[in-house]
This record gives sequence, structure tokens and C-alpha cells, in this order.
Amino acid sequence: MKIAIIGGGPAGLYSAILLKKQRPGAEITVYERNRADDTFGFGVVFSDATLDNFEKYDPPSYRRITREFAYWDDIAVHFRGTVHRVGGNGFCGCSRRTLLLILQERARELGVSLKFETDIEDEARFADADLVVLADGINSRFREKYIEHFQPEVDVRSNKFAWMGSTRPLDAFTFIFQETEWGPFIAHAYQYEAGRSTWIFETDPATFKRAGLEGLTEKQSADRMAQIFGWFLGGHPLLTNRSMWRNFPMIRSKRWVKDNMVLLGDAKATAHFSIGSGTKLAMEDAIALADAMHHAPTVETALQQYEEGRREEVEKTQHAADVSLVWFEHVDRFWDFDPVQFAFGVMTRAKAITYDNLTLRAPDFVAEVDKAFAKQVRAKGLDVDIAKPVAPMFQPMKLREMELANRAVVSPMCMYSANEGLPGDFHLVHYGSRAIGGAGLIFTEMTCVGRDARITPGCAGLWNDEQEAAWRRIVDFVHANSVAKIALQLGHAGRKGATKLMWDGMDRPLEEGGWDVISASPIPYFPDSQVPREMDRAAMDAVKAAFVASVERGERCGFDMLELHCAHGYLLASFISPLTNQRTDAYGGSLENRLRFPLEVFEAMRSAWPSHKPMSVRISATDWAEGGITGDDAVDIARAFAEAGVDLVDVSTGQTVRDAQPIYGRMFQTPFSDQVRNEARVATMCVGNITTADQVNTILAAGRADLVALGRPHLVDPSFTLKAAAWYGADGVFCPPQYLPGKEQIFRNSVRDRQDFDDLKIKAKPKTRAELKAEATKPLAAE
Ligand SMILES: Cc1cc2nc3c(=O)[nH]c(=O)nc-3n(C[C@H](O)[C@H](O)[C@H](O)COP(=O)(O)OP(=O)(O)OC[C@H]3O[C@@H](n4cnc5c(N)ncnc54)[C@H](O)[C@@H]3O)c2cc1C
Ligand SMILES: Cc1cc2nc3c(=O)[nH]c(=O)nc-3n(C[C@H](O)[C@H](O)[C@H](O)COP(=O)(O)O)c2cc1C
Repeated sequence: MKIAIIGGGPAGLYSAILLKKQRPGAEITVYERNRADDTFGFGVVFSDATLDNFEKYDPPSYRRITREFAYWDDIAVHFRGTVHRVGGNGFCGCSRRTLLLILQERARELGVSLKFETDIEDEARFADADLVVLADGINSRFREKYIEHFQPEVDVRSNKFAWMGSTRPLDAFTFIFQETEWGPFIAHAYQYEAGRSTWIFETDPATFKRAGLEGLTEKQSADRMAQIFGWFLGGHPLLTNRSMWRNFPMIRSKRWVKDNMVLLGDAKATAHFSIGSGTKLAMEDAIALADAMHHAPTVETALQQYEEGRREEVEKTQHAADVSLVWFEHVDRFWDFDPVQFAFGVMTRAKAITYDNLTLRAPDFVAEVDKAFAKQVRAKGLDVDIAKPVAPMFQPMKLREMELANRAVVSPMCMYSANEGLPGDFHLVHYGSRAIGGAGLIFTEMTCVGRDARITPGCAGLWNDEQEAAWRRIVDFVHANSVAKIALQLGHAGRKGATKLMWDGMDRPLEEGGWDVISASPIPYFPDSQVPREMDRAAMDAVKAAFVASVERGERCGFDMLELHCAHGYLLASFISPLTNQRTDAYGGSLENRLRFPLEVFEAMRSAWPSHKPMSVRISATDWAEGGITGDDAVDIARAFAEAGVDLVDVSTGQTVRDAQPIYGRMFQTPFSDQVRNEARVATMCVGNITTADQVNTILAAGRADLVALGRPHLVDPSFTLKAAAWYGADGVFCPPQYLPGKEQIFRNSVRDRQDFDDLKIKAKPKTRAELKAEATKPLAAE
């Protein structure tokens, strides 16, 4: 077999090594345009998990790599004169040059032919090769040559960065967030060998300009950075090596394989440097390719298997990198945070590290985070314990005069079980048991303001006396048997009305017994859905009056809070999104116009609702569709509602149009809550695939939301909050007297269960290489 590899970076060299080990008889050649020791850049970093992988696939290179490594365990965050350190991270750094020399040596040893100073212009010269590996880096010539086939998507990010080095020793992965007269600068720095550290500087484009970095030489910009970070560098110089300021390109390619050619490493996909995974991805691509080549009968099937098997992992890493880079791009959102909360945000930005995980590794740090959180609650006038605070999930919150016992919320969820809008016994048991289960706030399902405002024939409503009495019974039960507050979500289905029950076909039009539907514009949801009637002013007045009438009924029922549903493509959402609003009058066109009717309804409701009771609005913060609402629009929408008197923005997303492309994942809507909260400066509730109390605490402690709603988890577990309280020892959680023996038991057992669980986790976690090294070098006297 003949294999040609274009590019002698980590991806090209490591794939050559692994393929040659597998096929000693194969003729494998690596073509590299630079000289053998001509590599640019400073250090690279790997996690312990990546090194474990290298150990498994090629022990000799692994041994040589790890001999050369600098190890560290801590991450240190410097911000506004403070430093917070968190251990147990298990990272290793190595010079890129050393890494490549080791890989070259190993490749040569195995019989790979390495051809340096050979720039490949055209792959046609490899017509006789069975496999051509395109590992030619971020600016891949061959990805561009076959752009139509590979379909790369290159998203050039806004921040500027430059990669430099220093002799400054570091004992931790160090983030420095530095205020300057021009704006914020960030340094990401780590040591990679004795006396050498990598320094990546990052800043936003406006600060870059104000700092006069545009057009400076490498030396001049290094001097400017040395001036800014001089207090930390302590006289150590900054070193440059092609250290130009650049913008990071996030690259994703739709296809990775063409005939017998395959893209590897940065050529096919990149991951932002803030998660330090570029070289890891490149080398793990090589592992995946070698695995596929080992098992598949032909090169064609191997390449297919490589792409199919590897894509998910790469996309997961890219997603984590995306979340991380967005955090750094918007660091100004958090600039006025308490430093410990800021540091917690840095640590948890990419979802892998959580509140519980940090509690295990850095209990003092988390205790400080809890204290800072409790202090903020106290500053809002609530009497909470600051010396021994409960976890953020169990901190109270006040909205106008409504006080919530904790920050866990039962999300609004249609039960499709009402008869002509009338809630029945099912609803009493459903809401009653969730209130008893400990959540601080319970939302009703979308309760419709008229018969024709319903989504389905099973939707609940509040437009007649009988419904009012039924809701009052539920509210009274909640108030009499729990400390939970109950919010009424009012809505109108708009063009998604007259559809089937969820379990008969979500959003599908009713075949019989339907009713006429209305919307901002006459656009059906599905092509075969009913075409809605475009609302005229009279219809708007009627809808507004219906909302106000339901608000008055809601007040008579005794609800504590009111939410206006402006999300998920229902009537008011259909005005807000440009995808569903094509009006040419004062209610269409600009965002200001599209918001006019929803705000009018909101204001009318606000006037009818007692001023001491809070109101929220649920919005879709993105339509997940081209030309639709984006996170930036959501900030403007939230500001407009806040000006109109909203106390809380309930941040959901999507469900506006059929062809949306949502990116699901754990806590997938939380970044929008974060953006709305910290840019519009309004309290938010986040929701969406949040399934554990650990995630709830992580979100709250990082200041990404003020309340956390859980929908599906509450469907299967009404006592989600009570159980979580037992886990965190928050014994102030409410429990009705009838259930107290159960509460006492779970609290007693939880102390032991948690201890066992933590012990198991600690035992199951292998020692990091930094810990092993520290043990090996510990002087005997210290034993
Ligand atoms: C600022 C910054 C910091 C980073 N920090 C880290 C980090 O801490 N940890 C980490 O793991 N990664 C880091 N990376 C990413 C890392 O450098 C890359 O992701 C990694 O090197 C990708 O490996 P590769 O083999 O795909 O590509 P490369 O390393 O770019 O190798 C491609 C090779 O192909 C050669 N080549 C290109 N075209 C041709 C041609 N036509 N003919 C012959 N040869 C050709 C090039 O000369 C090059 O040597 C960082 C990147 C940046 C920009
Ligand atoms: C069965 C069901 C019914 C729902 N009904 C409503 C509703 O009436 N109003 C609303 O705003 N959201 C509704 N949603 C959305 C949820 O409130 C929540 O935003 C969504 O389920 C994501 O949260 P989760 O991942 O915690 O379930 C519903 C979700 C489900 C699963």
C-alpha cells in the first residue's frame, strides 16, 4: 500500500506513525513544506485523558513526549487584584517544536519517509497512492481547492489574538483579565518547559483599535503587552515568533472525504485555543483514521467509517470550544461581577466543569462562591445566612412583593387534559404534587384567553366562570399545602391553534372540530396547516380585551404572578419574528414595529394586574433559522419589555418555524439567558435540557440566570427540589407535615450517600500526572 501525507504537523506525523505500525510494508511518505526544525509557535497543551490515549496507541512516542512535559494541576484566574486557584485539572504542556521533533524521530524509526521543504501544489502526483491524507493545516490548500465538495464553513471570530512566549515560569494554567485605559485584555498562559511559557493575548476589536495595536510590528506589540502585563511578568521578556495579531477562524467542513483523500486536523475543523484542544483533535483524528484503516476491508469503507465515527466527537469538542470562545468574546458582560463569581464563570464556561465537580476539588473556592451569592441576596433585602449559606438553588428571591423560597421552577407545560378549557382533577393533582415537591415557583401550562385561542382541544383556559373556579381550587390547594408560589401563563395559540393533542401529532392540524385561526400574517405553519387570517385592528382589540379579562380572572383566582407567552411561534411570537410577520403596517417591519402589539397587550395586562405582583414574559431568544430572531434581538426585546414593567424574562428558544435548526445539548438555551441577563441587565429564568441540581447551581452561581425552570424532569419527579435539598443539606426546604418522616429519612441518608458518592468519585479518579510527579519528587523526610 502507498500512502501520501501532505503536512508534517501533529496530524500528519501521528497518522504516519500509526499507519506504519499497522502496515509495516506500506510505503508512507510525509511531505512538509518547512524545514524539519522550522516549527512556529511555542507550547501545546494536552489533558491527562489525551495522554492516556497516546499511551495506548504508541507507547514509545508517548514516553518521549511525557518525559519532556511540564505538568500542572491548577487553573489560576487573576481578576481585579484577586487570584483564585482551582486544582485537580491535570494538564501537561510541551513545546510544539519538541513534540514535532519527537514525532519525526519516531516516524523515521518506523520507516516512514519524511520529505521536508517540499511544498505540494497538486495532489495529482499521488495518482498511484491508495490513500492521500490532507493534513495541511488551518489554511488547507486542498480543502479550498475542493471547496465545492468539502463545503467548509469558516466563521472568522471578532476577537483579536496573538501567540507569544515568555521566560516567566508558571505553576498553573493562568488566565489574567486585565483592565486597561483602552478596555479589557486577556492573557491565557501556561508553562511548557523549564523557563518557557506560552502567552496568548486576546482582546475585542474596539479595544485593539483604541490600544493602537493596528499596524504595529511584532516587537512593538510585544512591548505594549509587556507594558500591560508587566506587573505579572516581573521583568521576564515576551518572545515573538510569527506573533501577528489574528482573528480565529472556526472551521467546520460538511465533508471530510473525497475519493481516496481525507482531511485531518485543522484542515477539516478547528477548535478555539481557549480550550487548548487543537493538537489533541489533530492527533486523535490520526488515531481514528488508523482505527478505521485497521478494521475496514477497503480504503473507501475505512474513510467512510472514519468520518462517520469521528464526527460526533469533533463536533462536541467544537461546541465546547464555541461556548468557551463566546464567553471570552463577551467578557465585558461579567466585568462588574464579584471576582469570585467571575472566576467561577471562567471555570464553568464550557459546561464540563460544574458546581459539584468544583466542590469536590476546591471546596473553599465554592464556599466563597456561595458566600458571595448569599451576600447579593442579602443586598436585595432578604435575610439569609451569609456565614453558612445554602447552595444558590436554595437561596430565596424576591420579585416585587412575591418572595420565592428557592430558585427551582416548574416550567409551564401543557397537559392537554382539559375539557373545553376546564382544568380537572388531573390538574389539581399535577400542580398540587409539584408544589408539595418543593419547587419555589410553579407555572401553569399555557392557559388560553379564549376558546379559539387554544392550541388543542385539550388546552386549559381562563375565559369563563367555571374555569375560574377550577383554577381557584388549584391555587388555593397550592397555597394551603406548600410555600410554592404559582404563576399563571396566559397565551393565544395564533397560527398553531386548532391542532391535535401532543400524543396524536404535535402541531398537526385537526381533521375535524377545528376553529378559525389568526396570526400576524397569513402564513400556515405546515404547508397543509390552516391558513391563518391576518389580524386587523378590531381583531387586535378583541385579543387584547380577552387577555385583560383573563388577567382579572387570574387575580380573582389568587395567582401570585403572571406570565405573558410571547414565545414558540404562538400568536404574540408570530408578531415578533420577521419569519412569521410580513406585515407592512405599523405592526410589521422593524423590531420596534413587530413588538408594538405584544407590548400593547403586555401593558394592558400590567395595568389590570396588581402592582405588587410580578409579571414575566416568555420569549424565543432565537428562531434557530436564517433571517429570524437572534440573541442580539432578544436583548432588545427584553429591554423593551423591561421598560414596560416586566420583572423577569423567561428565556426559551425556537419553535417558530418548521425548518429551524436548533443546536441541542445540555443547558442549550442557557447562553441566551446569560446574554439577555447580562446585556439587558434584567432578571432572567433559563430553561431547556437542564436535568440536575448540579446544573441549576452552576448556572445560578455563574450569574447566567436568576431562576432555573425544569420541564421534563418535573414530569417524572415532582419532588425534584426536595431531593436536591437533601443532597445539598438545605434543610430549610418546605415539606408538608404529612411527609415529614420521609424528609427526615432522605436528609439522614443523603449525608451518608453523598459522602460515599464523593469517596467513590475520588477513588475512581486516577491521580493526575502532576500529582504523580509531585509524589515521586517529594523528599522522603516529608513522608
Ligand atoms: C494561538 C494558538 C494557540 C494554540 N494553542 C494550542 C494549545 O495550547 N494546544 C493545542 O493542542 N493546540 C493549540 N493550538 C492549535 C494547534 O496549533 C493546531 O490545532 C494543531 O497544530 C493542528 O495540527 P495539524 O497537524 O492539523 O496542523 P498544523 O500543525 O498546522 O500542520 C500543518 C502542516 O502542514 C504543512 N503544510 C501546509 N500546506 C502544505 C503543503 N501544501 N505542502 C506541504 N506541507 C504543507 C504546514 O507547514 C504545517 O507544518 C493553538 C493554535 C493557535 C493559533
Ligand atoms: C409536554 C410539554 C408541554 C409544554 N407546554 C408548554 C407550555 O404550555 N408553555 C410553555 O411556555 N412551554 C411549554 N413547554 C416547554 C417547557 O416549558 C420547557 O421550556 C421545555 O420542555 C424545555 O425544558 P425541559 O428540557 O426542562 O423540558 C412544554 C414542554 C413539554 C415537554
